[in-house]
Amino acid sequence: KLGSTPSGPLAGKHVLVTAGPTHEPIDPVRYIANRSSGRQGFAIAAAAARLGARVTLVAGPVTLPTPPGVTRIDVECAREMAAAVATALPADAAVMVAAVADWRVASEADQKLKKDGSGVIPPLSLTENPDILARLGASPDRPRLLVGFAAETEHVVPHAQAKLIKKGADWIVANDVSGDVMGGHLNAVHIVRADGVESLPEMPKDAVAAALVERIADALS
Ligand code: CTP
Ligand code: CA
Repeated sequence: KLGSTPSGPLAGKHVLVTAGPTHEPIDPVRYIANRSSGRQGFAIAAAAARLGARVTLVAGPVTLPTPPGVTRIDVECAREMAAAVATALPADAAVMVAAVADWRVASEADQKLKKDGSGVIPPLSLTENPDILARLGASPDRPRLLVGFAAETEHVVPHAQAKLIKKGADWIVANDVSGDVMGGHLNAVHIVRADGVESLPEMPKDAVAAALVERIADALS
């Protein structure tokens, strides 16, 4: 199929996906990270490409292969992810699956922090990272369909409804990460929209991706 014109319900559409964790540097050898594997976001990028979309996948540090037909941009930290997203615009739909670190170290050390023998422990002073989804929600380049994810350990749907409004998204896909979802292969999600909530049963992340991308294709058609 290489070189052929894509067909399928998302043909001619550009879908932007963020996936994976971010790594926020502390010093040249250390960073702050989280347990995101990138699997759900990569599955969504793959599913969108299968439906004929042109897909840009902005990926944090993960060990996954690039899905067929997907353009991948690798980044390390939240600020790089924000810049890569801005560069990839315009997009018809954006699906922000990345587990972006909320905070980074306020001033990264140029050299490896050393134990100085005095027993004094270096304090880590944090500062807030840019909210990539909220920026996109308020941007003149806002994609027609803007989908966020919400990782919650309690009050999953109400917290997602609050994020829908706060971030200016069209849908928030809420997942309960109180179990071993992060890093696992299964996911149970609630698709939260302004006019209601659709709860899907627990299923493999590939199946969640297929269900979500089908709905994205319907919304863009
Ligand atoms: N997000 C983002 N940039 C950030 C933080 C989050 O783009 N700096 C996006 C995520 O990719 C996701 C959505 O915002 O699509 C919600 O992320 P989440 O961590 O659940 O929400 P927060 O607003 O960061 O709130 P909290 O972590 O306190 O629950
Ligand atoms: Ca967060």
